[in-house]
Formats: sequence, structure tokens, C-alpha cells
Amino acid sequence: MRVDRFLSNLPRFNRKQVRGLLVERRVTVDGVAISDPHHDVRIFHRVCVDDEVLDAGITARYFMLHNAQGCVSATSDPQHPTVLDLLDEPDKGELHIAGRLDFNTTGLMLITNDGLWSRRLTQPQTKLPKVYLVETEQAIGDEYAATFAQGLYFAFEDLTTQPAHLQILGPRTARLAIIEGRYHQVKRMFGHFDNKVIRLHRERMGPLVLDAALAPGEYRELTVDEIQQV
Ligand code: URA
Repeated sequence: MRVDRFLSNLPRFNRKQVRGLLVERRVTVDGVAISDPHHDVRIFHRVCVDDEVLDAGITARYFMLHNAQGCVSATSDPQHPTVLDLLDEPDKGELHIAGRLDFNTTGLMLITNDGLWSRRLTQPQTKLPKVYLVETEQAIGDEYAATFAQGLYFAFEDLTTQPAHLQILGPRTARLAIIEGRYHQVKRMFGHFDNKVIRLHRERMGPLVLDAALAPGEYRELTVDEIQQV
């Protein structure tokens, strides 16, 4: 929301007063004085007039988890442990998963309460690659790479997948980079060749790589640098 709208929505200031506060540079957002009425204010920002806090903001939280096999990518499940069960954090109900994984997929999972940040990471429009290590039941043919690069038609969604990059690592192993996250996307792409995925592990989402120091089931907070890279 624009800062002038945010301030004039408060009962104590009318529009003229808000203009005055901005011109006199009495408004700060996260400690920085601002005068531009269009300045964008988000829920995580701390807005003050003089020294008075008008919106204490909500602390943005970001975690990287090494997802273990057999963990459900959901906030609750009646039968199985969920990703959130692995976090020893307060107010877990505010958190959501940026890019879910199937029950048996391991690897990088990002969890946050910042919806804009997670959308930047997961929306196909931002073209950030999600990189998976894949092991298959049958041999991976040389022709797979061209088919994946062209895109595959998914009848259920009536869409063609965005170009994906396949690097063959061994007879039945490969690294695949996709820029969207359709339902069971990787399994369905290999399924096009009747080749079953028997192991799937996410190594990277955009600029963020799974920390090798994290064992399956372990997590840590993201660093400021990692958060800002997205
Ligand atoms: N594609 C899949 O098929 N499964 C996952 O968990 C992630 C991507």
C-alpha cells in the first residue's frame, strides 16, 4: 500500500496532514526517512512518525529445510509427519511452504511467512529454475533432452510445460531444471517416456542451494544475503 494511503487511513491524520508529515520528512519506514507519497509499505515494514511507531510490523521469517522422505508437504496431516512438525519454532501456523514436494521427494524446502517472497520464487513468470536430481527405473535416452527443452503437453491442465534443461549424468541418473512446479511435474515428464522416477531430490530453487551441512530433517534460518537474493 502507498505510504500516504496507509497514513491517511489512520483516524488521526487527514490527507493534508499526511502531505505535511512527508514534506517535513517526519515519516520513517524501517528507520529511513521518506518523503515520496508513493513509497510502498508492506506488512513487514515498521512505520514511524517522529519517534512513534504506527505499525510495529510483523517479523518476516525464512527457513531452509532438508526435507526427509516420508514427510508431507502440508501444514497438517492426520497420518504422517508434516514438514512443519520438523520445525521447532513459535507461531508455525503463520508459515507456508514455497514449492511443495511429493511424499517421497527429498531435498530443499523453503518455508516462510512472506507471501510475496515465496511467489517470486515459485511463479513461472520469474523463470527461477528448480533443480532436481533424478534417478529412474529405465535408461534415460538421449532424445529426452530435446523433448524436455521443447516442452510437453499436459492434457489435464491443457498447457505445454516451459522449456526445461536436462543434463544426463549416468545411464539412469540426470539433473533436471524446470521453471514451474506443476503437480508431479518431473514424474510426469519422465512418464512421457514410460520411465518411472524412483528417486527425486531437489538441490536448488533459484539462487538458493540446499546447505550440505543439513542432514535430512534438519533446518536453519536463511541468512540476510540469501533472503535478498530472491
Ligand atoms: N516433481 C515431482 O514429480 N515431484 C516433486 O516432488 C517435485 C517435482
